[in-house]
Amino acid sequence: MSLEQKFEALKEGTEYKFFINGKWKKTRSGKTIPIKNPYNDEFVASIQACTREEVDESVVSARESITCWVETPLNQRVDILRKSAELIRESAEPLGAILMKEIGKPIKSAISEVVRTADIFDGTADFASIMGGETIMGDAFEGFTREIISMSYRVPLGVVLCIGPFNYPFNLTGSKIAPALVAGNTVIMKPPTQGALTPLHFGIILEEAGVPPGVFNIITGRGSEMGDYLVGHPGIDMISFTGSSTTGRNLAKVAGMKPLLLELGGKDAAIVLDDADIETTVKEIISGAFSFSGQRCTAVKRVLPMSGIADKLIKRVVEETQKLTIGDPAENNTIGPLIDSKQCDYVQGLIDDALEKGALLKCGNKREGRVIWPTILDNVTTEMRIAWEEPFGPVLPFIRIQNAEEAIKISNESEYGLQGMIFTENIDLAFNIAQELDVGTIQINGKSSRGPDHFPFLGAKSSGLGTQGLKYSIEAMSRPKAIVLNLSKRGKLIRECGVYR
Ligand code: NAP
Ligand code: G3P
Repeated sequence: MSLEQKFEALKEGTEYKFFINGKWKKTRSGKTIPIKNPYNDEFVASIQACTREEVDESVVSARESITCWVETPLNQRVDILRKSAELIRESAEPLGAILMKEIGKPIKSAISEVVRTADIFDGTADFASIMGGETIMGDAFEGFTREIISMSYRVPLGVVLCIGPFNYPFNLTGSKIAPALVAGNTVIMKPPTQGALTPLHFGIILEEAGVPPGVFNIITGRGSEMGDYLVGHPGIDMISFTGSSTTGRNLAKVAGMKPLLLELGGKDAAIVLDDADIETTVKEIISGAFSFSGQRCTAVKRVLPMSGIADKLIKRVVEETQKLTIGDPAENNTIGPLIDSKQCDYVQGLIDDALEKGALLKCGNKREGRVIWPTILDNVTTEMRIAWEEPFGPVLPFIRIQNAEEAIKISNESEYGLQGMIFTENIDLAFNIAQELDVGTIQINGKSSRGPDHFPFLGAKSSGLGTQGLKYSIEAMSRPKAIVLNLSKRGKLIRECGVYR
């Protein structure tokens, strides 16, 4: 039976089931949640609204599978990841098509999200197979000798809860599942409701790759209804979450004392100095601000141009923005629907607020259904909401600045600290400014981005907790265990043997 034929097992008609202990199930509540294409409102499929009892069952299944999985040799866990990567890669087109329908992502980006996930599985396998511990001799520290030795290695944390966001539902659940499993943890995955269909396929993929029943489990349902219960469950040992800062803050309160890896919101600022290469800057800003209609945590969400370049820069950005294709994601248009009407209303509110307070509309501010035209606002001030709030939509404010100090001040006053950007030909100055920015990563002459995926990816302040990235995620989902050897007779034994080193 082909993998695509096996994919049929996870659903009955258009009703997708959830996955516990190696079995696809329908919820006993009988309640399901319809998933519709955000572009045309067409019904795509439905998912189970799982109950608290089913959450409990998923935790029991994961906990009871810890021993069998932790005793599976690392090289077998690594091989399973590589096999999963193969299966993901061969399913990129059908999975990409589902992804496009359920979240409105342009089809080429949807397929590349799936392929990127396969690369993450392979890269995680590479790092896991060489990760170990360390041996430390006591005499490195005052008052101790070589007769005391610490040897450490890494051990799993237990049951890892992986929660992903709607905008990369397959990739940002896969980038959690892979390190969790290879580190020896068992997993419960809670996919985003709008975006659940593609990650549900991990149940088939991982089973086909050799993951035993119970090691990987999937629970579906609205986070607002069952999220707190799931996050606060005493049977969960670690949580890896990607989503909004609001949800992340709530999660941290509910979860209590357990390791957390949180990748949250952003308001990444692009500082553009007078000597910046204008065409490079324009290309990076357009791609950074409007890919997937701005629905990326690392989207360029504000531009701070120095007065000497601002007019030229804004003119060119407007020209290129007006060339962006708009419409059906199935036709690979750059600008498509936002995830839901509520998000559209929110983005429109930010635009209206800025215009009421004196911002200058350069293009956009048009809406048809859930599609908002890419919108450029000039003369934005710090009095406007768009200067500080995360739109998660295709609107880009320009806040003109007089000097680098002002740019640093405005950048750092944000509650967010995901990434920042500096566009200039003066690399020394770029480094000096970068060292002043309170963010996880600074891109010099490039747009904010999570990739490449072996880089550390992290947010400061409201943008996150902990570091994601191939080896960093494995470290976050495991811990060192140290064994200390006290050689009290070392010297005597050697003397008896007549040899003393
Ligand atoms: P979200 O509304 O916070 O939802 C994220 C995930 O959390 C979803 O699976 C959601 O389930 C679940 N959830 C909701 N309430 C919960 C609760 N009380 N307990 C546990 N889980 C709960 O975020 P989103 O709208 O999917 O994604 C957009 C946001 O995520 C933006 O702010 C963006 O910046 C951020 N993001 C950050 C990164 C990063 O790497 N830093 C990457 C992508 C997105 P439901 O879908 O059922 O509500
Ligand atoms: O919002 C998703 C976040 O992880 C950004 O990923 O690769 O588009 O920068 P990327």
